Amino acid sequence: MSNHENPQQDSQTTPFTEDLAASLAGLGVIWAQSNTGVIGKDGGLPWHLPEDMKHFARLTTGHPVIMGRKTWESFPEKYRPLPGRTNIVITRQEGWGGTPAAEGAVAVKSLDDALLESQFAPGHGMVWIIGGGDIFAQSMDLADVAVVTTVDTTTEGDTFAPELGYDWTTGARLPSDGWLTSGDGTRYRITQWRRTKG
Ligand SMILES: NC(=O)c1ccc[n+]([C@@H]2O[C@H](COP(=O)([O-])OP(=O)(O)OC[C@H]3O[C@@H](n4cnc5c(N)ncnc54)[C@H](OP(=O)(O)O)[C@@H]3O)[C@@H](O)[C@H]2O)c1
Repeated sequence: MSNHENPQQDSQTTPFTEDLAASLAGLGVIWAQSNTGVIGKDGGLPWHLPEDMKHFARLTTGHPVIMGRKTWESFPEKYRPLPGRTNIVITRQEGWGGTPAAEGAVAVKSLDDALLESQFAPGHGMVWIIGGGDIFAQSMDLADVAVVTTVDTTTEGDTFAPELGYDWTTGARLPSDGWLTSGDGTRYRITQWRRTKG
């Protein structure tokens, strides 16, 4: 995913990502995790996977993105706000929205407020929750779709993906079997999940 997304990079993506972008609507969660469910380490991502950043950028651009304050602050200043997206940032800190660190963000005080705010943003037919672990944990009962990149590593970390419980079923997967290989040899795959609402 996009902690170090570079808006200058080539935006070419795979037909898989293009099909997802065209077909999805509702509320989505999107993350990249290790084989053991790690999504973050020391306030950043434990890997650098440009192919996944392109996939993330393609799916989320044009839509509102919701994130926790720590994920916002994990982006290098020059890459935030994520371009082409209303960046909605959740914090309990009164007045954070008026600080230099919040420049370019729409600051809200709860997940409910974030979801409400997202409905006034361009592209709100699809809203993406982009992390981190704290916000994902609070969102899984609300989301319709999850798009998960699994990075074939057992690297250690301090922030973890939420559980995709019994109410989630797998959909499209790239590749359908095995792994993709990034330019630096890292293996990864992308899986779409849908939540079955009771
Ligand atoms: N691999 C991936 O796909 C991916 C994606 C995103 C992030 N990450 C990684 O995940 C890590 C950050 O995740 P995190 O779990 O530590 O933090 P986070 O979820 O990004 O942000 C947590 C912060 O959000 C605010 N918050 C959370 N729940 C709230 C609520 N109900 N009401 C109001 N405010 C609320 C609080 O901000 P205040 O403290 O300001 O009150 C809280 O400290 C980083 O390492 C990042 O790189 C990885």
